[in-house]
Amino acid sequence: MAPNLTLLLLMSIIVISHQQQEQQQPLLNSAEQEAAYRVLESINPTIPWRTLFPDDLCTSAPHGVVCDYFSDTTEKLTVHITELSFGLFFYKCFTEARVSVPEVSPSFGRSIEELVFIENPSLVVPLSGIVRNFTGLRRLVLTGNGVYGCVPDLVADFVFIEEITLSRNRLSGSVSVNFSKLKKLRVLDLSHNSFYGNAPDSMGNLTQLLKLDLSSNGFYGKIPESLGNLQSLEFLDLSLNRFGNFGVPVFLSNMPRLREVYLSGNLLGGQIPEIWETLGGISGIGFSNMGLVGIIPASMGVNLRNLRYLGLENNKLEGSVPLEFGLLEFASEINLENNSLSGRVPFTAKFGAKIGDKLKLRGNSGLCVDESLGPVIKYGDSLGELKKCNKPNIPNPVLFQSGGSSELLVSFHVMLVLGGFVVFA
Ligand SMILES: *[C@@H]1O[C@H](CO)[C@@H](O)[C@H](O)[C@H]1NC(C)=O
Ligand SMILES: *[C@@H]1O[C@H](CO)[C@@H](O)[C@H](O)[C@H]1NC(C)=O
Ligand SMILES: *[C@@H]1O[C@H](CO)[C@@H](O)[C@H](O)[C@H]1NC(C)=O
Ligand SMILES: *[C@@H]1O[C@H](CO)[C@@H](O)[C@H](O)[C@H]1NC(C)=O
Repeated sequence: MAPNLTLLLLMSIIVISHQQQEQQQPLLNSAEQEAAYRVLESINPTIPWRTLFPDDLCTSAPHGVVCDYFSDTTEKLTVHITELSFGLFFYKCFTEARVSVPEVSPSFGRSIEELVFIENPSLVVPLSGIVRNFTGLRRLVLTGNGVYGCVPDLVADFVFIEEITLSRNRLSGSVSVNFSKLKKLRVLDLSHNSFYGNAPDSMGNLTQLLKLDLSSNGFYGKIPESLGNLQSLEFLDLSLNRFGNFGVPVFLSNMPRLREVYLSGNLLGGQIPEIWETLGGISGIGFSNMGLVGIIPASMGVNLRNLRYLGLENNKLEGSVPLEFGLLEFASEINLENNSLSGRVPFTAKFGAKIGDKLKLRGNSGLCVDESLGPVIKYGDSLGELKKCNKPNIPNPVLFQSGGSSELLVSFHVMLVLGGFVVFA
């Protein structure tokens, strides 16, 4: 969620809390008040929390502490702290002094639904120490801190959890958690840590998952087939790991909602499979540095009409760039650098003018730009080094009127099918 949205959300929660509070005036019980002071003091001992916030902490909550109101069986309204968010408001506050583990009792921890720390590099604590008593969490967001250790097995019992974001910490070890019980989890982001080993099969039981990001770790072995069960998945990033030698997983075709898929920087190898028919919603594909061989399937151009980003650079792809790539009208970056592609570049001058130097074709010595398109192409300098094709692909009007060869006629029809990009003066 964008910081602004989070801010709005937090503010609205606080506003609602205050309205309800004016009507009923329930007070935070003293044990919970004391527990909250201790959390705040352990997080930042340089602030005199008790002096600054002497009253009921839910009446005038410090930034980052959010309360909610509950009615119990006797309809009596009670108040509890439900959120400790040291992300937004405490953003980059703790770069100097070392921050210690916020210790909470199990009863206080159970009522906390959100725990957020963003960009606090001096929060150098083991993850197991942080999460132990927060068993009621819905959101755990620890991004850009010094959190270390592994993902503790007890996370398997966080049955209310909807988001686990642990990106850019110093976490490591193999991930052995059984995720099967986390039926509400929508976001799992372990990116930019030092995790290794196999990605657990049980990730395939996270049927509500929208985002899975394991990028920039040391995961290896086979990408679990069970991930094919993630029918709701919209974002999959497994790039920059050591997943090996089993090719691009064909199960991607079972993920009808998929919008972005990044597998770059693994050793997957093999050919790009024909899986694109069911994946028309995809807008981003990163398959670079993967040891891919064979051709680029024309079906990508035919089916991926919403594609904005395609990265296939630094592979061993050969053959031509499919003519159908001229259909990718929303593309804002296509990177095919450093392959063994050959033949004519199929893009029109209009397409080239739009995408500019985000069409990257260097390092394919067999590619050529058509002479007749050459002068009007504005590809930036990314095409600068490509040679001109020997024979013009597009019949000029004179050739065409005088009959031409059947080969030229065929290519003329293909160009027309591509949507009238070619203008005959
Ligand atoms: C969890 O609760 C127990 C029991 O109150 C306490 O001893 C321990 O320090 C707490 N752990 C953390 C990390 O808050
Ligand atoms: C994970 O937990 C589920 C349900 O709790 C259980 O059925 C399954 O056998 C467990 N899997 C592993 C690998 O332990
Ligand atoms: C979790 O996934 C595993 C492997 O895909 C499967 O065998 C198991 O039955 C699933 N468990 C539950 C509780 O859904
Ligand atoms: C292609 O290879 C060249 C030379 O090795 C390198 O400088 C360039 O960065 C590569 N392009 C990409 C997109 O990685």
